[in-house]
Amino acid sequence: MRKPIIAGNWKMNLLQDDAKALFNGIKEFADKYTAVQLPSIVIAPTFTSLSVVENVKCDCGCAGTKIAIAAQNCHWETSGAYTGEVSVEMLKDIGCEYIIIGHSERRQYFSETDEMINKKAKSILAKGLIPIICCGETLEQREAGITDSHIAGQIKKALEGISAEDIKKSVIAYEPIWAIGTGKTCDADEANRVIAMIRNVVREVSNSEAADAIRILYGGSVKPSTIEEQMSKSDIDGALVGGASLKADSFNEIIANTMKVAV
Ligand code: 13P
Repeated sequence: MRKPIIAGNWKMNLLQDDAKALFNGIKEFADKYTAVQLPSIVIAPTFTSLSVVENVKCDCGCAGTKIAIAAQNCHWETSGAYTGEVSVEMLKDIGCEYIIIGHSERRQYFSETDEMINKKAKSILAKGLIPIICCGETLEQREAGITDSHIAGQIKKALEGISAEDIKKSVIAYEPIWAIGTGKTCDADEANRVIAMIRNVVREVSNSEAADAIRILYGGSVKPSTIEEQMSKSDIDGALVGGASLKADSFNEIIANTMKVAV
């Protein structure tokens, strides 16, 4: 049984005070439940708000520990002359447990390649953190009928040289690019089909144990009204939420609706 994950990707949004308020709003909701009742909750603030959120988490005692912190990117080297970059060790030092890599916005605007994503995944796992490896097709690729081959290629390259033990701990997020920030959610059956295909790719490049254990999320215009159907599908293990994670009400409702069907 794979424990569901509801992750909020705050992207380049929120100043420190807003980040603190949003985190507190999620924590207040999470406080009403035990960690066993909740899905794994992960939030990914900007680099500048990581310590703010982490400090709130530490002050609150036990409750805040139900919410794990993720970074939205990292560099694969430990240190050195890489102006503007942040290493996995630095993110671990600040309290991150997860790191999102290969988001389509980073691939598109910052020329992130599959090779870089593979190096980042290895570096994250070597430091004991969990990569959230994003993949997904453009509308053109979908219309050309190459969705599956494109995504299989992204996953094979991202996981190259990674042991089954490490793959088991990792997380993949399937985010069709045409569904991100557009309000157009991918049909739940189709998202489930692609995610099952990704699981088979993991089985092929690693083994069945890794394929059965790895958690694969759906992302792309996830809302409180879509999550129940998505979570009722066999292979969808959670969601990577953008816009709807920026308000405590909608993010908490996504968590609550997940708990109705899947925890
Ligand atoms: P939206 O939920 O805003 O579509 O964003 C999805 C996403 O990119 C999460 O990483």
